[in-house]
Amino acid sequence: MKLDIDFVRKQFSQLNDEPDFVFASNAGGSYVCNQVNELMEHYNRHTRVQPYSRFRTSAEAGKAMDRAKQLWSEALNIDLSELTIGPSTSINTYVMAQATGAGWRAGDEIVVTNQDHEANSGVWRRKAEEKGVKIRQWEVDLETGLLDSDQLLELLNENTRWVFFTHCSNIVGTANPVKEINQLVKTNSSAKVFVDAVAYAPHHICDLKALGIDGYAFSLYKVFGPHQSLLYVNADIRNQLASQAHYFNAGMPSYDFNPAGPQHAQVAACAGVIDYFNLLHEHHFGSSQTGPVDRMKDLHGLIQQHENQLAAPIIDFLSRHADIQLIGKTHVDDNDRAPTIAFKPLKQSSESLVHTLQDNGIGTENGNFYAHRLITDLGIDPEDGVVRLSLVHYNQQADVDKIVRELDRALN
Ligand SMILES: Cc1ncc(COP(=O)(O)O)c(C=O)c1O
Repeated sequence: MKLDIDFVRKQFSQLNDEPDFVFASNAGGSYVCNQVNELMEHYNRHTRVQPYSRFRTSAEAGKAMDRAKQLWSEALNIDLSELTIGPSTSINTYVMAQATGAGWRAGDEIVVTNQDHEANSGVWRRKAEEKGVKIRQWEVDLETGLLDSDQLLELLNENTRWVFFTHCSNIVGTANPVKEINQLVKTNSSAKVFVDAVAYAPHHICDLKALGIDGYAFSLYKVFGPHQSLLYVNADIRNQLASQAHYFNAGMPSYDFNPAGPQHAQVAACAGVIDYFNLLHEHHFGSSQTGPVDRMKDLHGLIQQHENQLAAPIIDFLSRHADIQLIGKTHVDDNDRAPTIAFKPLKQSSESLVHTLQDNGIGTENGNFYAHRLITDLGIDPEDGVVRLSLVHYNQQADVDKIVRELDRALN
């Protein structure tokens, strides 16, 4: 079975605005599916009041927010009490640094990487410095940008409290084997594991209990939804974390790690992403009794096949080109390569290549994309940075053809 790309593209009205434009900057923020826009508009037009009171509009507003939380906790296979919906992943990790760091003591150690976006790096490092906690860095291979689990093993010991890493770097585009890494950490230390999935979730929504990790976060504005971030905190470790809520709300699950308070319409609209995935599932697999987690797995199979077909010709072209330094794996054969493709042109600046591509109808960007440490350690100027082409499942073969054609022209 193949992904019905025409059906997919009908669910994103913005794709019709400029039919010849190729949007290849999805890792910065994706288009929003129609289902999300409809829920957002409905909330703002009809139930825009303080939610959770007894009068009709308020009760409906509360129900719409509860529906979103319920659908997402089912899709992620977590308890409702383990889900926080906050304004962004950067603020969610910032809050988590206050919550986890409150219990850190001098002599403790944490592991962070130089592969991560700064949102899953700086907040933990700063808190560790404040508390006299030793920071160990799990370092990427300087040729490929990839992380090697064997090297993590050497960083673990009885003092390790937390290990922070990314499910998929927003530059390297290759997924880290989260379940295996979590197992390795748990077997060799008593540390907890927190994973940034912002660059992975647009390609697959995971069963978090199957991964076994303690914390996980991703941003829905990159997963076809509103500008919100989902944060998972395993119920088993809640009592080891300091609540960040007003004192009278402490211990209430949706408040503990969300001092910003819920953004009502946006939270309600989060349900639209699941509505879209359910529609996509029904279109391809028919109406069945398949549960929410298995629906995501079915969709993953379809989407991965499609995304691999999109990524392969671009990666192939770039990896063979003498004037290009491609970051990450040079093939998609292992089914762990997202179509997030970053590279450094060797004979011109990233900016100049991006300007040429933009002038020819390709929405791409250059820079460090807040993976400043990674770009710097790879020996690349963090201002000019890399060129990043990032695709998702609504991109089509014609987009890839145009990207390869325009790259070829711009490089030769
Ligand atoms: C891999 C990764 N992690 C974290 C973030 C931060 O997410 P947010 O913009 O929701 O703070 C980003 C944003 O680009 C990202 O790409």
